Amino acid sequence: MSGEAVAFAAERRWAIVVGVIIASLVAIMVITGLHWAAMPPSRVETIDPRTLHVSGEFVEGNLGTSVSADGKVVVRLIAQQYSFQPQCLLVPAGVPVTFRGTSTDVIHGFIIAGTNANVMLVPGFVATFTTTFRKTGEIAMPCHEYCGTGHEGMWARVQVIAADEFRARAGRGERLSCVRR
Ligand code: CUA
Repeated sequence: MSGEAVAFAAERRWAIVVGVIIASLVAIMVITGLHWAAMPPSRVETIDPRTLHVSGEFVEGNLGTSVSADGKVVVRLIAQQYSFQPQCLLVPAGVPVTFRGTSTDVIHGFIIAGTNANVMLVPGFVATFTTTFRKTGEIAMPCHEYCGTGHEGMWARVQVIAADEFRARAGRGERLSCVRR
């Protein structure tokens, strides 16, 4: 074979390799797109971000930690440029805690260091998850989704206290938080 023919064969081989890669990427896009359209996630809770402050679950007086009649611990919070409301979340150790959160403006998110809590807060949707805090103490809870110029300064704290102490405080019936006034 002449040098030219060898080069041509090599080019053809590589053209086929590239073609296969492109074809598989297109196939992945089509399959995931069809799958998403056919089977949307089972539980999507939506909420109107424009009326969050005015009515419904996320009004100011309803934010923080509450204990429902059946003993379930629920933390409600909202994220907005550039803070979380409330700034400090009070939770018991060793008990499942359900978080419910949303955003009033852009996409935020948070992680709670040392736990499996890692969630995105998307305006228009309620994010929810349940986790159990193993030990007492204070944990940082930074926003982990770039949300604008104030992103680095956006964080809250989680105060984990003993379950007995928590129950005693929850007995008074008010929304619990650990915001220092
Ligand atoms: Cu909120 Cu980054």
